[in-house]
Amino acid sequence: MKKTVSVIGSGTMGSGIAQIAASHGCNTRVYDINEDSLAKSKSNLEKILNRLIEKGRIDVKIKELIQTHITYTTDLNSIKDSDLVIEAIVENFDIKKSLFTKVEALVSDDCVIASNTSSLSITSLAATLKNASRFIGIHFFNPAPIMKLVEVIPALQTEQAIVRNVKSLVDSWGKIVVTAKDTPGFIVNKVARPFYSESFKIYEEGMATPLEIDTAMKQVGGFRMGPFELTDFIGHDVNYKVTETVWKSFYYDNRYQPAFCQKNLVEAGYLGRKSGRGFYSYPRTEADQESKISEDRMNAITNRVSIMLINEAADTLHRNIASRDDIDTAMTKGVNYPKGLLKWADELGIEECVRRMDILFDEYHEERYRCSPLLRKMARKEETFY
Ligand SMILES: NC(=O)c1ccc[n+]([C@@H]2O[C@H](COP(=O)([O-])OP(=O)(O)OC[C@H]3O[C@@H](n4cnc5c(N)ncnc54)[C@H](O)[C@@H]3O)[C@@H](O)[C@H]2O)c1
Repeated sequence: MKKTVSVIGSGTMGSGIAQIAASHGCNTRVYDINEDSLAKSKSNLEKILNRLIEKGRIDVKIKELIQTHITYTTDLNSIKDSDLVIEAIVENFDIKKSLFTKVEALVSDDCVIASNTSSLSITSLAATLKNASRFIGIHFFNPAPIMKLVEVIPALQTEQAIVRNVKSLVDSWGKIVVTAKDTPGFIVNKVARPFYSESFKIYEEGMATPLEIDTAMKQVGGFRMGPFELTDFIGHDVNYKVTETVWKSFYYDNRYQPAFCQKNLVEAGYLGRKSGRGFYSYPRTEADQESKISEDRMNAITNRVSIMLINEAADTLHRNIASRDDIDTAMTKGVNYPKGLLKWADELGIEECVRRMDILFDEYHEERYRCSPLLRKMARKEETFY
């Protein structure tokens, strides 16, 4: 059956999601309150499709077909006949709540309503509906048409059949679907926290400079970008906000505590590349791209950040937030990690993982360095993840 999909919000994410749905033959409606945003979304799609033609990925016929599949509108009534509504508007609970009330009054009882929220609780959003069981989280990554990973997050109230149907629809859009329990940050934004926070801590302690840490994480860790250049790229306002939200949502667990060095950048308006200055100044000079840091120091940095990432991945499995395979898939496909963190744990040896966490805990006596009980139990039983 040809699905009718309505995307609410025509910004960065909504535009990308609409492009995916339309490219897979869905009747796609894009609704926004802002006409300029809709016009921009439409003209951006035209540019993207022209680029795909230049690259030989599609032909003119396909371009026209995709475009005929999308309607842009400021009239909410036009989403009435949707099978699926995906909300991608501003990240504000009250504004989303008021939108969902209007949407639910318009669509049929069978219509599934979803949110692309990065940080709000799916369960609390579901509770804004009369029929919470039709609500689900569908979390795309930016840029949505390019990033393969999609996290599907059932609310506590979501009906199982809806979870299955949504997963199979998103799968038919060529995406790699993982399922996450409704917990702050879902999989990727939770597991990735130490990549930034532990690196910032190393820097704040004066153990290494941003350039040295970035160099180590790329050369020894195998990450495509270092944490400082990556947060400069993402924008410190955005990355700081995610960290702060995850930290607050985990009842101020010290493991997710934001770093002052990033808070200061935000306060100074040094938001990264987009404002010409973050940890680095832009454009960056040649000399400012790679550091001559010793092998030993690179290993020390990478070992500390990677063990914190592995511990976070183990904790995510321990709390049943996602399966072993989904955790490793999410980090390799969602944020291009060089390998799955649980696979990495096996390679290091579970006992060695526990030893490294205990050294950090003994040194700091801070809760953030507590070893996951899962790793400890597995070490005792001489088990591996794979
Ligand atoms: N940008 C990312 O990297 C990213 C990644 C994953 C998820 N998300 C989530 O996706 C959602 C959208 O993010 P974005 O970056 O696309 O935002 P954006 O600011 O680019 O776009 C938001 C759009 O929503 C419209 N809008 C605002 N209020 C509205 C309303 N009441 N009704 C209809 N339209 C309304 C705005 O006019 C704007 O066009 C947020 O929930 C965000 O957390 C963002």
